Amino acid sequence: MNLGLKDKSVVVLASSKGLGFATALAYAQEGAKVMLASRSESELARAAEDIFKKTGQKASYRVCDVTSRDQLAELFKAAASENGAVDVLINNTGGPKAGGFEDQSDEDWEQAFELNLLSFIRAIREVLPGMKEKGSGRIINIASSSIKEPVEGLILSNTFRTGVVGMAKSLSKEYSKDGILINTVGPGRIATERVDHLDRLRGEKTGKSSEEVKAQYEELIPAGR
Ligand SMILES: NC(=O)c1ccc[n+]([C@@H]2O[C@H](COP(=O)([O-])OP(=O)(O)OC[C@H]3O[C@@H](n4cnc5c(N)ncnc54)[C@H](OP(=O)(O)O)[C@@H]3O)[C@@H](O)[C@H]2O)c1
Repeated sequence: MNLGLKDKSVVVLASSKGLGFATALAYAQEGAKVMLASRSESELARAAEDIFKKTGQKASYRVCDVTSRDQLAELFKAAASENGAVDVLINNTGGPKAGGFEDQSDEDWEQAFELNLLSFIRAIREVLPGMKEKGSGRIINIASSSIKEPVEGLILSNTFRTGVVGMAKSLSKEYSKDGILINTVGPGRIATERVDHLDRLRGEKTGKSSEEVKAQYEELIPAGR
């Protein structure tokens, strides 16, 4: 099936690993011109090489900490000059610090706001003018299943992901007339480094091994994996 993505200019934030990388790979498989971004140049180079090996598509990449307004601005400038005005923005980032309400300081709340909400706002600001000019655009925010039901022990995620949904729904009403569609994805549990990290933390708190924690969660998934 042709999804009509060939040669589209796509920016995937936080894409050296995990869900961001898998998304970038899927776009490259469809022939899109992909720009990868994360904080580690070596991980980005490895990801771009992997995409090339699997698809024959050359992916561009830039080091960018999504909590930096200046680095985001530079990234989108580079994407437009290398791949053309952005057609698709995948807003993604690392997960916030784990823990409950009493585990978080003001600084933790501020950091999670910058990482998990403000970065999305800033990235959308960067692409909106070009998308409005073209009269089309797609913005997809990767959030979490916590937008439907809070996840125990992830108060920061539970708070800011729902903020993403509120923002995205508001913007989708405002900009659909410009041909810009804005959607938010709420992934459940998908085996990535983030999930390994959370399993380790839960294991330490409950006196279980990471494998036991993993098995417990898998039991809750109908497919069992
Ligand atoms: N996996 C799941 O089951 C699941 C479920 C629900 C929600 N989520 C959420 O989905 C998002 C992606 O999860 P994941 O499992 O793919 O995580 P992951 O495997 O830990 O990958 C995170 C990616 O984000 C990049 N990153 C982290 N902080 C960044 C920053 N400040 N600026 C730029 N890039 C940054 C990392 O690269 P560098 O270290 O090189 O920067 C890496 O490429 C997270 O917000 C996570 O909480 C995941």
